[in-house]
Parts: sequence; C-alpha cells; structure tokens
Amino acid sequence: MSLPKVSVIGAGQVGAMVAEHIAIKELADVYLFDVVDGVAKGKSLDIMEGMPHWKSDSFLEGFTVGQNGENYENLKGSEIVVMTAGLARKPGMSRDDLLYKNVDIIKSAAENIKKYSPESTVIVVTNPMDIMTYAAYRVLNPKRNKIMGMGGTLDSGRFRTFIAKELRVSVEDVTAFVVGGHGDDMVPFVRYCSVGGIPLTELMSKEKIDQIVTRTRGGGGEIVSYLKTGSAYYAPGISVTVMVESILKDKKRVITAPALLDGELGQYYGATGLFVGVPIKIGGNGVEEIYKMNFDEEERRLWNTSVSHVHESVQKVNTYLRW
Ligand code: APR
Repeated sequence: MSLPKVSVIGAGQVGAMVAEHIAIKELADVYLFDVVDGVAKGKSLDIMEGMPHWKSDSFLEGFTVGQNGENYENLKGSEIVVMTAGLARKPGMSRDDLLYKNVDIIKSAAENIKKYSPESTVIVVTNPMDIMTYAAYRVLNPKRNKIMGMGGTLDSGRFRTFIAKELRVSVEDVTAFVVGGHGDDMVPFVRYCSVGGIPLTELMSKEKIDQIVTRTRGGGGEIVSYLKTGSAYYAPGISVTVMVESILKDKKRVITAPALLDGELGQYYGATGLFVGVPIKIGGNGVEEIYKMNFDEEERRLWNTSVSHVHESVQKVNTYLRW
C-alpha cells in the first residue's frame, strides 16, 4: 500500500498522539524523530503493532537524531513535517518562559528540514507556537502557504466543547473559533459563534459567555494545573491530525491557525511579518486562503493586544538570534 509520508519531529506526548491518530485513520506513513535514544523507535513500533486491530496499513518508523543532525536524512520525501520537539510547559511556567529554550530546538530542526525536505508543508506545534512558527519560517523561508502553526484548532475545540456542555447540545452543531496569538490573550470570537445557525449571543447570557471565554483562554493552563508534570496532548494530537487530514485529502477545511500575515493582509491585520491565528482555508496546497475578519472596536482592541504580545516575543527572538 502506498501512503503519503508524514514526519513528526519530537516523539513526546503530542508527537506520539499525532502519529497514533494519523495511523488509526490510515492517512499516511509516519516517521518519528527524537533526540532521546530509542524513544521514537519504541513508540513508532508500539503504535504500529496496534494497527492490525484498526485495519490500518500505515507504516511507522522511529529515528534517534543526533546533535549534528544524524538520521535527519530520513525526512526526505515528507509531504508534511509536524514539529512538536521542545520542552513542555510545567506548572507556573508561561508559554513565554519556554521561548529561548525552544527556539534553539526549532531552529536546528528547521535547518534539517531545509536540508532534506524543503518542499514539505510544515505545521508547528511547539510553544510559544506563533513565535516558533515565525522562527521556523525564518530558517526555511518557504512560500507563505507552506507553513503554519496549530493553535487555533485546539483553542476553537476547547471553546466549542465548553459552549456545547453549557447548552447541553451536540458539539457538532457548535461553530466557534478563536483568533489571535495562542496565548492567554487569544481572542475567542463570540460574535461569529453560532449553535445550529443561531447566534450564541441569543442563547446565553453575557456573563456566561464571558466565563466561557475566560475558561477557553486559560484552557491550556487548566490542564497543566491538573497534570502538574506536563501539558495537554490528547486534544493537541487530534487538532494536528485534523490539519494533516485536510491537507492530504485536500478537504479545504476552514479553521483558524497562525499563518503569515504579509502584504495587504499584514497591513489590514496590523501584524505584518507575523504569524497570528486567523481563519484560513487549509487544503492540498497548505494555507490556500487567509480570510479577513471584520472587527468591531472592542474586538480590534483585543486583537491588537494579542498581536502586540506576539510582536514583542518575535523581537526578543530576533535579538537573541541576531536576525
Ligand atoms: N530534536 C528532536 N526532539 C527533541 C529535541 C530536538 N532537538 N529536543 C527535545 N526533543 C523531544 C523530547 O525528547 C521530547 O520527546 O521533544 C519531545 C517533546 O515531548 P514532551 O516533552 O512530551 O512534550 P509534549 O507534551 O509533546 O509537547 C511538545 O508541544 O504543545 C506543545 O507546549 C508543548 O512545546 C511543547 C510541545
């Protein structure tokens, strides 16, 4: 059986979950890469050994990568590379605390993607995600459509879950999305939320909506506070798989994701040269379209705050890496 190749750099909690879901859905063969000796090999074998029960012929293989890029040549021919390598958030640690530690990791992984698989579409998961996507972009210098971050699908999934549970309706009928940076000041876009086509604002009080918005923004932190030794990985793994599926099947899903805002779009969004979560069409050509949002005054204020935090972190990275 011939399936496309998806590589996942970082075979930790999120990376393994991505590999498992892609394999269960038989979307691709999955190649895992990790610095810790044996981890990628062990996990890929373990996942593959479960596949007969799901009737999936996805093939999986793992590689230990060295400090000098050993084994990265196995990235060759990847249609998609998912980057989850890095350190996860610990309790009390903000996404920004991870900035410098993870940017070094992403930079070196991106250099290897550029060397061995420059045509791949890249999805960045490592936090702080908008900034890591920017860093990978700077190294890879790909076309705008070939690189994106994962955040919006995850945050929107959380938002939809909380709305559905509150109203006791099926999650299927809840349309809701989150834009802005994948940080504590992300912008759940209430005005565009609907349940079976009915605007959310007609179904729920402002107080209740505000509570859900706050919980959505803190959704990642809420899970960290329970897990104590790591961060969310089930929903992140599923969210990446949704994006991979839309690319490989050219489904043209409309989701939110950090995409490069440049040119006229960059000016419209006041975020030129940054990756910030916006509604996109994701298909066989990666980010096939970036949609413009109509902001009211308050939404624009929230958006600008979120963008300014992304901008600050990008500047820190530029200084750190002397870009
Ligand atoms: N190259 C390859 N793999 C690396 C490298 C590197 N240079 N550095 C670290 N790793 C691997 C680690 O060995 C580990 O297996 O990345 C993996 C990260 O996995 P976890 O620690 O389990 O973290 P996870 O929960 O998967 O989160 C990964 O995604 O959601 C974000 O905030 C999260 O940035 C974090 C990332």
